[in-house]
Amino acid sequence: MNKKSFYITTPIYYVNDTPHIGHAYTTVAADVLARYHKALGEDVFFLTGVDEYGQKVAEAAAKRNVTPQAHVDNMVGAFLNLCKSMNICNDDFVRTTDPRHHEGVKKALTLLKEKGEIYEGTYDGWYCIPDERFFTEKDVIDGKCPDCHREVAPLSEKNYFFKMGQYQDSLKQFILDTQDFIEPPSRRNEILGFLDKPLGDLCISRPKSRLAWGIPLPFDADYVTYVWFDALINYISMRGYGTEHFSGWPADMHLVGKDILTTHAVYWSTMLMALDMPLPKKIFAHGWWTVDGEKMSKSRGNVVDPSAVIETVGVDAFRYFLLREVPFGNDGNFSQDALLQRYNSDLANDLGNLVSRVVHLIVQKSDGIIPKPTSLGRHPEESDLLETIRSVHDPIKVALNGLEFHLALAEIWKLIDRVNRYVEEMAPWNMAKDPSKKEKLDTFLFTAAEAIRIIGVYISPFMPQTAEKIGWQLGLEEIGSHKWGDSLIGKTVQKGDALFPRIDRKVVSMPLPRPTEAVITAPPLGLTIEDFGKVDLRVGIIKEAERIPKSTKLLKLQVDTGERVRQVVAGIAEKYAPEALIGKKIIVVCNLVPVKLRGVLSEGMLLAAGAEQAFGLATFLEEIPAGTKIK
Ligand code: MSP
Repeated sequence: MNKKSFYITTPIYYVNDTPHIGHAYTTVAADVLARYHKALGEDVFFLTGVDEYGQKVAEAAAKRNVTPQAHVDNMVGAFLNLCKSMNICNDDFVRTTDPRHHEGVKKALTLLKEKGEIYEGTYDGWYCIPDERFFTEKDVIDGKCPDCHREVAPLSEKNYFFKMGQYQDSLKQFILDTQDFIEPPSRRNEILGFLDKPLGDLCISRPKSRLAWGIPLPFDADYVTYVWFDALINYISMRGYGTEHFSGWPADMHLVGKDILTTHAVYWSTMLMALDMPLPKKIFAHGWWTVDGEKMSKSRGNVVDPSAVIETVGVDAFRYFLLREVPFGNDGNFSQDALLQRYNSDLANDLGNLVSRVVHLIVQKSDGIIPKPTSLGRHPEESDLLETIRSVHDPIKVALNGLEFHLALAEIWKLIDRVNRYVEEMAPWNMAKDPSKKEKLDTFLFTAAEAIRIIGVYISPFMPQTAEKIGWQLGLEEIGSHKWGDSLIGKTVQKGDALFPRIDRKVVSMPLPRPTEAVITAPPLGLTIEDFGKVDLRVGIIKEAERIPKSTKLLKLQVDTGERVRQVVAGIAEKYAPEALIGKKIIVVCNLVPVKLRGVLSEGMLLAAGAEQAFGLATFLEEIPAGTKIK
């Protein structure tokens, strides 16, 4: 039988700035689901990545004075690092500048154009001449630019449109017929409300003269694709759309923030309808995080940097907090207090202490070896614990299938609480190593260890590192399944560091918000003018030239660079006879660290055209004295 497949996506993130907790949020939620479905034995494909085109990114690049390509090449690192530091198990990472994605976009556009789904029309809007920016009617405020507040001028330009409006009724019908296509239900209603108003067509192009940073339209070289139209196609292009290897569609789940639900539920769905392709099985829109009750924004300086949180509480505590604190569809508030409260109470106290206590007891009372439970089922405390273990399984499953992460965690914590209570009730510290109590003690030690193992299994999609550490402390290589078993019998436990050492709120001042100034941590690609100024370039006049024995490529030159005559070894023997070079004016890099080439000292480098071989020396038309500085 074929394995069940599960294809899950996150939105692709704009690389106009470094990642914040909003990005971390969706990615962690998708990761938990991907890990959960992988553990169920399904064939999971988990896709995340970055959205590299469009005006926002082009403007960010311009601000940094670098080309858009250099900008995205530089910024993508921050998003890849986020995946790494958040322990994300994605199967692929899309960059929309990737040729694989371009192929998919080209194919979709060509097909839609051929089918008559795309037509030429005029796009009316407003242009801010000083800012060189285009705005739609809804962007402008009282006839003024929303950014610089100066007058905007009307602009009408030729563009291409996708006949989105004609799908209004069929999309509405589909949503009505497919109860769980858009979740949660409140968001579904919003979209249905949106579809009550007339749905227009979608402008899918931008003239290159206005915005060149985009994927060229296959049918008009003067235009690029509107960034949303290209971005949505990533969900199929990364599964091979546009090649003969296309597979894995439809997606089982698109996770998105509430602000981008319309683009997914309406633009993307109608695009798929026009392409005669099935719609994704589910689009789930989550809520937004505020920080200390305020909207997160660069100007407020309260943008929370995920790496700062991870440095302070660790990756698993951060993952836990994001999914425990707030129901997934709701808005939530991020605060250091709330984070530390959850950390100290749920993680350090409830879970961390339980694990170290039980491991310590096994070391103390059983020489570190997990004993065989000889009287299992004979103590009422155990029966009740076993019942709790049995009873949490289905609710956890139901909660995870319904994306109610907070409820799944609440169920797991019910079990953690029950095991903590079990330890208290059994009071093993009073049980001496006396033979009459041995059966009870052994059974207790095994039961507590096995219950902790099962807790490790349940938390593993949420806190994979912690689950691994629990497995390791229990002497296991693999944590195993949620089913009660005897894999622990005879295993030697290992005392590890505390899973979640307590954090004193008064002592720790957490640098959680990202400082406004250092928004872009990665250095800009390319040299600054100061960097370039460090290169000591001078006019040199070649005084002597000779071949280097046994080398077909190298010449040894004596070059007057003003302050002295320096020896330079250059790979130009195939191009120039030594005698032809005498008296020639060249450009020499004078402050390179001297090196030996074929055993001959070289104290500089001359500039020539050609990377692998020299096509010609850089020289001057005028008479310029040796040693003249070049800027
Ligand atoms: N590039 C588009 C998505 C294209 S998908 C084909 C985009 N990118 S984004 O970087 O601006 O936003 C990505 C996601 O971050 C969105 O889902 C958005 O909801 C989410 N968040 C941005 N700020 C957020 C919070 N404050 N809280 C939670 N999520 C937030 O839109």
